[in-house]
Amino acid sequence: MSMPDAVPKQEAGVATPPVHVAIIMDGNGRWAAARGLPRREGHRRGVEALRNIVKAAGEIGIKYLTIYSFSSENWSRPADEIEDLMGLLKRFVRNDLADLHKNDIRVRIIGERASLKPDIHALLDEAEELTKNNAGPTLVVAFNYGAQQEIVEAARKLAEQVAGGKLSPAEIDVAKLSAHLLTHDIPDPDLIIRTSGEQRLSNFLLWQAAYAELVFVPIHWPDFDKAALEAAIGEFHKRERRFGGLTAKARV
Ligand code: IPE
Ligand code: IPE
Ligand code: MG
Repeated sequence: MSMPDAVPKQEAGVATPPVHVAIIMDGNGRWAAARGLPRREGHRRGVEALRNIVKAAGEIGIKYLTIYSFSSENWSRPADEIEDLMGLLKRFVRNDLADLHKNDIRVRIIGERASLKPDIHALLDEAEELTKNNAGPTLVVAFNYGAQQEIVEAARKLAEQVAGGKLSPAEIDVAKLSAHLLTHDIPDPDLIIRTSGEQRLSNFLLWQAAYAELVFVPIHWPDFDKAALEAAIGEFHKRERRFGGLTAKARV
């Protein structure tokens, strides 16, 4: 006799989630200002939102989650805000790394690391090292990251190979440049979400975003939750990705 609760959990026709979702976590300051709170409080609540979204992404089955947490240009903010952001990163790694590791999450950091303070540098190294053999989802943290700087660095490496006689200029192609990006072993994002209503990339994954679907949501980052992530993924599924070609529908 069939019981009503015997319905399979994964119903036929359920769309598979995008492999790689990248998020520009924006709007912490405005979230705080709207409540008469200091920006610091917005950033603190932003870390809580991040914790929930990492968990939700795992539940949804997202294999790569990239988060933009500090840009190369964010150094132009007031010194006390930078201090707050660095403090939050340190606390996040110290408090959450063990849990991420327990959940089999592999942490990857992209961005310029050499010029960071030694304690931050060491924590980022530790997060990558501890989790490098984990087989679960990958959490890519873009910290002190700038896409233009990343592309310049890749171009410099290719130029050095050319100068050393190891590569001819004619051999330089998309694959060779990609191989020198910080994301060389990470698939390009399928979906890029930006919160807070701003509609720009702010130097985030410019090369890798070539065929990403962009979804801009009006919610400020501290209020972004699993339902909002699912809604953005729902929007992604409505899009028709063509990669420069024609879809089956257009071909007939
Ligand atoms: C995102 O929130 C966090 C970082 C950029 C580090 P913002 O701090 O940019 O918040 P708004 O854009 O001023 O509201
Ligand atoms: C982009 O947000 C950087 C991060 C979310 C870490 P910003 O708030 O710095 O971007 P702009 O200045 O509004 O373009
Ligand atoms: Mg902002």
